Amino acid sequence: MTDELIRMLRNPSTGNSLVYDDCRMLDPHTGETFPIRNGIPVILRKDDVFGWNRKQQVGYNLFSPLYDLLYRFKIAQRWLAEISEIMEVRSGEHILETSVGTGQQIHNIKRNGIDANFFGNDISFGMLRRCQRNMEKWGVEIGLVQGNAEALPFESQLFDVVFHVGGFNFFNDKTSAIAEMIRVARPCAKLYIADETDTIRDKPGLLGRIADWYLPSREIFTPPVDLIPDDMLNVKTHNLLGDKFWMVAFRMPEDQSP
Ligand SMILES: C[S@@+](CC[C@H](N)C(=O)[O-])C[C@H]1O[C@@H](n2cnc3c(N)ncnc32)[C@H](O)[C@@H]1O
Repeated sequence: MTDELIRMLRNPSTGNSLVYDDCRMLDPHTGETFPIRNGIPVILRKDDVFGWNRKQQVGYNLFSPLYDLLYRFKIAQRWLAEISEIMEVRSGEHILETSVGTGQQIHNIKRNGIDANFFGNDISFGMLRRCQRNMEKWGVEIGLVQGNAEALPFESQLFDVVFHVGGFNFFNDKTSAIAEMIRVARPCAKLYIADETDTIRDKPGLLGRIADWYLPSREIFTPPVDLIPDDMLNVKTHNLLGDKFWMVAFRMPEDQSP
């Protein structure tokens, strides 16, 4: 864990800056402490993870050993290529991926020759551990934190790019997740949110029927354009892999402070 990451962390419940104290993170105003496991600060209270977030956390903890197999398919590589065509990222920038998973998106950015300062959070410790091992293998430096995308454990205005791929459709509180991405972004930062459409439901046969039975309403698969605040700039929705995924891109306005 780097000094830079330590300086970036805050208590999501109080908004207070955290300090490193005796192998854990401490909120000096309330005395609340957060453990550091395998070098990853856990800035997440168990009680704060419920509903769909809890299901996602448990599901991805179990699925984490197998998750990277998905990236062996050619379609996943095409998807990564389409994402990187849309996203504007530059070397030297501070880039946060909320719900970083096993780090495949960050790895792809690095493979494209972008040498940036990478950070990621996820609700699943299993996915973060896998990400940590992957990054060691790939030689990519990244600051990882276990935390909820709906209440990010980061200070405000830190990142030049904030992006999210996958997970969004099932967030408990999408409005908060977007507000949090905006809060941690710097003036003029670029923001991207992507997830699946519900085309899987239209598949013929058993897969379609299972999806129809298991998945909640179609609305949750809709790009969240209406949730983007009015003062954000250049809001644009892209389609990925035909109509299988959506990506909403937008920009922060310039600094408005006097
Ligand atoms: C489909 S995976 C995407 C991982 C990675 N972004 C990628 O593109 O490979 C979804 C991820 O979202 C994470 N996630 C789900 N809900 C979350 C939440 N509320 N806060 C943070 N991460 C969450 C899951 O643990 C999982 O790692």
